[in-house]
Amino acid sequence: MSRIDALIEDMTLAEKLGQLTMTAAGHTVTGPVIAGDSVDAIQAGTVGNLLNLIGADHVHAMQRLAVERSRLHIPVLFALDVTHGHRTLFPVSLAEASLFDPQAWALTAREAAREAAADGIAMTFAPMLDVARDPRWGRSVEGPGESPWVGARMAEAKVRGIQGDALGAADSLAAVAKHYCAYGAVTAGREYASVDLSERTLREVHLPPFEAAVRAGVAAIMPAFTALGGIPMTAHQGLIAGWLRKRLGFEGVVVSDYNAIAELIEHGVAADAAEAAALALRAGVDIDMMAGCYRNGLPVALSRGLVSLAEIDRAVHRVLTLKERLGLFDDPYRRGSSPESVATLARRRQIAREVAARAIVMLTNGARALPLGAAARTLALIGPLADASAEMRGPWWAAAGPEGHVTVLEGLRAALPGSEIRHAPGVAIEGGERGGIAPAVELCEGADAVILCLGEAAVMSGEAASRAHLDLPGEQRALAEAVLQRAHARGTPSIGVLFSGRPLVVPWLAERADALLAAWFLGSEAGHAVADVLTGRISPSGRTAVSWPRATGQIPIFHGERPTGRPADPANHYTSKYLDVPNEPLFPFGHGLTYGSFTLSALSVSPQTLRPGGVLAVRVEVANEGDRAAEETVFLFIHAQPASVSRPTLELKGVAKVRLQPGERGAVGFELPAEGLGCLGADLEPVLEPGEVEILVGPCAERRRLLRASIRVAQ
Ligand code: BGC
Repeated sequence: MSRIDALIEDMTLAEKLGQLTMTAAGHTVTGPVIAGDSVDAIQAGTVGNLLNLIGADHVHAMQRLAVERSRLHIPVLFALDVTHGHRTLFPVSLAEASLFDPQAWALTAREAAREAAADGIAMTFAPMLDVARDPRWGRSVEGPGESPWVGARMAEAKVRGIQGDALGAADSLAAVAKHYCAYGAVTAGREYASVDLSERTLREVHLPPFEAAVRAGVAAIMPAFTALGGIPMTAHQGLIAGWLRKRLGFEGVVVSDYNAIAELIEHGVAADAAEAAALALRAGVDIDMMAGCYRNGLPVALSRGLVSLAEIDRAVHRVLTLKERLGLFDDPYRRGSSPESVATLARRRQIAREVAARAIVMLTNGARALPLGAAARTLALIGPLADASAEMRGPWWAAAGPEGHVTVLEGLRAALPGSEIRHAPGVAIEGGERGGIAPAVELCEGADAVILCLGEAAVMSGEAASRAHLDLPGEQRALAEAVLQRAHARGTPSIGVLFSGRPLVVPWLAERADALLAAWFLGSEAGHAVADVLTGRISPSGRTAVSWPRATGQIPIFHGERPTGRPADPANHYTSKYLDVPNEPLFPFGHGLTYGSFTLSALSVSPQTLRPGGVLAVRVEVANEGDRAAEETVFLFIHAQPASVSRPTLELKGVAKVRLQPGERGAVGFELPAEGLGCLGADLEPVLEPGEVEILVGPCAERRRLLRASIRVAQ
């Protein structure tokens, strides 16, 4: 009999339910504490999983209670939201998505996992894979952006990075893909609201990242808080027991979101904790995070005949199997036993700096205000985000305190030691106080360039941070307008640097500033990274993974829309358009400028006729006609029409990058299996239909900038 089967045979019901329970832990002056309970629960074996305990010493002290003092010596699983770094913070996911680089995504995940494992953590609630096309939703910041293709690539890379080569290694964590599923489609972008979408959109847009995570071997999955088509995800038999476990063969752990099982009562599908627990367990949820419904409700559910002991045992088996795979039975102190070296931490900061610089998207640079020339000796650095260490972290910060994250002021001072850098916040991020505007404007006098650091506070995106207005908060617009007016009057170049967890709706700023950078939230090395781009030490290469609306009323907005029977035509009133704004976003998906100047040409595709099992080769030449070395990103889209279903006008199928010196020519190539051109047919099953497929290649999802060729798919 296996170790796990033997344990299960020996366990009391209370001990079993303990393994299905996760609760929050902390450490106070009086010692370890756990939420809603005493630490005796660890010794009693009635809590088997803890979240939010930080520090290897604290983790090991708690672990000793379980391993040395509990009857069955089952180790505790320690989990934390290590989303974009643990102590060293990397850019938030939406920023990282701008790299379009799976290797970099895996690298930062690997580094974050190693740092968290060194703190004793064994599981992270990451990656977050919710495709989001509505920037009102604050959690857009945590995910891959608007494209399911990007979501799937990010899923694979992050799972690889978090879990490493072997889950049992001392520096590996179990990944938890979340939030399954379609959370990004909450009604009106309002946090926790219900979701209603077609089965087709679910399959085409929201499921692919999770499918990719499962295929990459993700250890665990977290259902979303939300209800989908009237069924809360925490109780969704069709999607958990059905699609996930049966169809994809997922054998890992499903861990509920925070208190989500108890919230089934609020959703209106359960009358009490016993019913809620039964619904979740029967759907396939193994661990109850923070609701206490499994511990308190499952015994009642058992007595009412709502669940069976065999169902409980299956869940316990999955949890213990995960603990075994993590190596916790063999050595529960493996993680957190050897502190990391100073050299490792320094190398990690360097990675954070490089990735952060690459995550910056240069939205405009019309007047070629960037990079700052050598003549820029006096800079006016204005705005509430210019010297805001804590904000640089973004909305999750795991074990990182508020200090020590490089600000733009610090970064510029380090990069330009011979320059005078004048700084004033001007206004606060939020609030109505305008008294600082006039003195800030005075700093522009005699400056060689003006840099405005504007945007959201870190906690204005992330969980429970939906916004209906996506302009700059507080009095920042008033500050920016006053500063820009002075800069224009004096002919001083003006540069905007936007910090935000979502695309902001700021067409006025894009128009009036000479250059504009999207800096998202870049993490611990933010200020160095921004300085690297401003000074030209690094040519920006980030490309936005979300469309930037020009008006909030355009939301939801994304590049993969389906055609309409009445395409927009300014000369025809009865066509699909707004009366007051163009349909197109201000900046399309994939947009991002560099200090180079690239042209794409000579698109070739072969074969001209593609058959099932074949591979399509696509090649395009790229030339850097600018005077600086830079990296170009090339996107491959397809559009298949006619087909048996109306397919999106652009479907992303590949991304390639090439770095070229001034005047240099190069090429990028893609290989696409024929099946990759298929779609879900009218019956929602995958099909490769014969007919014409347009191949579109270019620097972003703006149709008129794409080179085109056509091929035929034949049987
Ligand atoms: C969030 C999850 C997170 C969990 C644990 C919840 O409120 O929705 O994303 O993993 O808390 O911190």
